[in-house]
Amino acid sequence: MINFKRTHHCNILNKSHIGTTVTLSGWIHRRRDHGGLIFVDLRDKWGITQLVFDPKNSLKAHEEAGVLRQEWVISIQGVVISRSEGMANPKLTTGEIEVQVDTLSILSRSKTPPFSICDEFIDVNEELRFTYRYLDMRRGTLISNLSLRHRVLLSTRNFLDQKGFTEIATPILSKSTPEGARDYLVPSRLHTGCFYALPQSPQIFKQILMIAGVDKYFQIAQCFRDEDLRAERQPEFTQIDMEMSFEKSETVFSLVEELIATIFKQTVDLDILTPFPKMTHKQCMDLYGCDKPDIRYEMTFHRIDEIIQQSHFSVLLDEIQRGSMIKAFVVKDGAKISRRTIDDFSSFVQKFKLAGIAWMKKTEEGFSSSIVKFFSSALLEQLEQKLHVQVGDLIIIGAGPENILNQSFDHLRRHIASLLHLIDPSQYRFLWVTDFPLFSLDDQGQIQSEHHPFTAPNEEDLAFLHKDPLKVRAKAYDLVINGHEVASGSERIYDSDLQSQIFTLLRLTPSDIETKFGYFIEALKYGTPPHLGIALGADRLCMLLCQTENIRDVIAFPKTQKATDLMTQAPSEVWVQQLQELHIQVDKPIDIDTLKESS
Ligand code: AMO
Repeated sequence: MINFKRTHHCNILNKSHIGTTVTLSGWIHRRRDHGGLIFVDLRDKWGITQLVFDPKNSLKAHEEAGVLRQEWVISIQGVVISRSEGMANPKLTTGEIEVQVDTLSILSRSKTPPFSICDEFIDVNEELRFTYRYLDMRRGTLISNLSLRHRVLLSTRNFLDQKGFTEIATPILSKSTPEGARDYLVPSRLHTGCFYALPQSPQIFKQILMIAGVDKYFQIAQCFRDEDLRAERQPEFTQIDMEMSFEKSETVFSLVEELIATIFKQTVDLDILTPFPKMTHKQCMDLYGCDKPDIRYEMTFHRIDEIIQQSHFSVLLDEIQRGSMIKAFVVKDGAKISRRTIDDFSSFVQKFKLAGIAWMKKTEEGFSSSIVKFFSSALLEQLEQKLHVQVGDLIIIGAGPENILNQSFDHLRRHIASLLHLIDPSQYRFLWVTDFPLFSLDDQGQIQSEHHPFTAPNEEDLAFLHKDPLKVRAKAYDLVINGHEVASGSERIYDSDLQSQIFTLLRLTPSDIETKFGYFIEALKYGTPPHLGIALGADRLCMLLCQTENIRDVIAFPKTQKATDLMTQAPSEVWVQQLQELHIQVDKPIDIDTLKESS
């Protein structure tokens, strides 16, 4: 019988083990045949240990080692020895020793991998990485990301347990929860023509748990949303979901701040300063043009309509006539940016429907730009003071409808920050965004919930609910870290009449309300405590902790941009019999090849 039970893992042996007989098992990372001696780097989850096969020590083991190839799984017995003079590798924990092999057992052979595993920094095509995810994981980074993710969730569970929260699982086969995306539907075999919806979030269930008297709930919850994917979005993702009764927003803020500080301390040993700063949604939109600003760098926006109005800058004056808003921001030391790059900024904003940008540079000699002539020197001085411009700075000016201007400037600000390397990836900046509007307009100009329809309106604005609903502020809050929305929550409506009114404002008919949410409206009528909650995107949080920009780097088996799993080839066709049992007829055969396309 082969003894592959390890005495040590591959990242532990050092000089203090010299003379010890050990059993090591793992994968062949590299093999080098130096004529007389064969060296093998043996790898496991923890690290690498160098093995040496010396014919003078064991002719049999040396002969057997001749056939070894990358990624074969072996087990060896041998003795720890010191590496010869000058051969130590300071980059490895085990770099001062090697194991002289007495016996070798080949546990399994490997086909030649489709990409190199020993060089984790080589860029491998994502399609290939996802198809062979298990090989991708062997390259190391992913496994360490997944370990960090494990510690984040462990730390969360312990923290919330200590704070008196109970973890409760809510159903996966359920009814639609409106979070703004399409549902993933699951057909029911027993109820022909009926479907379950996978939860977009546990929102309604957690509120019902409050009605039930659970008081403090949490769940590490899988959520499913059929929506357009981006670098920070997956169709299947994890929330750290919480709800509590008889508390106000301030309790959520301090609880989440403490949770975040605990996670950062326990996982990456960083001390996080609390409380986090707060900004209203309006302030965010005015200053940064978006509701999830990256506040690691400056370049805030200023309205300069009044200054432009006193100028002779006819293009912008015409814009003002058309009802456009004028904003400007300053790029510190931006005067060094080339003319060509600045021209590219205009093409850049055109992608977001802004006509272009105007600019001015402040040099030792004063302002320079083709538009300076439209401003009197007194006006330039006003501009300088308003924007706090200094010599060497660049001013960027834009005009357009508020939403287009904001969106374009937000993207341009991020673009410039990355171009000028203004972002320190090791820095974390936290921000609470509060006072969101309760509603916004969708692409068709119809009213929709800015968060979800269970969010409580601010009492001060209730008078506008029916007259001017877009004016109503919500008791909602988001936590933004480094420009990513990491958490979102709100105080909830706990009055069934108000809840029905909100559904009606969202154009649900009484029968829609009854079919979709009747059970919930009914539950609200049985003594509902005031309650509130929040959900943190666990994947996004881990992404930030792992300092990656791609959410897939923290998920073991992620989906591609087209929501496919290239390893299992999901989604896939199913047997005709399965469809018959479900009484489903597929009238358009699926072309499986289109699903195989990459992310
Ligand atoms: P929301 O829809 O804002 O709120 O989701 C909460 C947080 O979940 C993360 N998130 C995602 N992460 C990855 N991929 C996605 N597709 C994705 N969608 C959302 C974000 C987000 O901030 N029920 C409410 C919460 C509440 O009100 O308590 C909700 O789900 O980090």
